[in-house]
Amino acid sequence: MEKTAHKQTINITPALQARIDELISHYPADKRKSALLPVLHEVQDAHDNWLSTDLMDVVAEILHIRPIEVYEVVTFYSMYNQKPMGKYMFEFCLTSCCGLRGADDMLEYACEKLQIAPGETTADGMFSVVGVQCLGACGYAPMMQLGDYYQEHLTKEKIDQIIEDCKAGKIILHDK
Ligand code: FES
Repeated sequence: MEKTAHKQTINITPALQARIDELISHYPADKRKSALLPVLHEVQDAHDNWLSTDLMDVVAEILHIRPIEVYEVVTFYSMYNQKPMGKYMFEFCLTSCCGLRGADDMLEYACEKLQIAPGETTADGMFSVVGVQCLGACGYAPMMQLGDYYQEHLTKEKIDQIIEDCKAGKIILHDK
C-alpha cells in the first residue's frame, strides 16, 4: 500500500496503550488480531479521526499481525478514514429507506451550506460530509452519523441547527 500523502503525528500515549491492552485482553493470547476493529477505533479517535499508513503499521505491530491485514480492514469499512477529516464528520446514509426519504437532498443541502463537495472537508478543518451505506437506523430515515451518535429524521432546519450546535461546541461526539 502506498504511503499516505498527508503527514500524521503518531502518539501512542500510555493512556491509549492501556486502553489497547484492555481491548486485547478480551481475547485469547494467540488471537490478538480479534481486537483489530475496536483497537482501530481507539487509535483513530486518538489521532484526529484518521489512520495514515504509518499508523496502520503501528497497529499491525501492536497486534502482532502483518500490515496488509490492517490495510484490508481499513480500506473495507467506511468508518475508518485514510485522510484527515473534519472534526465534525457528517455521514449521511444514502441507502434505500433514507434515499426514499430525501437523504440525497439532505447531503446536498449540508454541502451547500458548508460550501464543500461530498467527501471534502471545510478549510477550517471543522466539517466533512460523506455518503455511506445503511447504518441500521432505517426507521429514523433520513439520518446521519455524527461521532458516536445518530442524528435522525433529518430536515434542512435540523441540519442548520446541528451545524450551529457544532460551531458552538454543543455537540458531544464520543460516549467516552
Ligand atoms: S437505509 Fe438509512 S439507516 Fe438503513
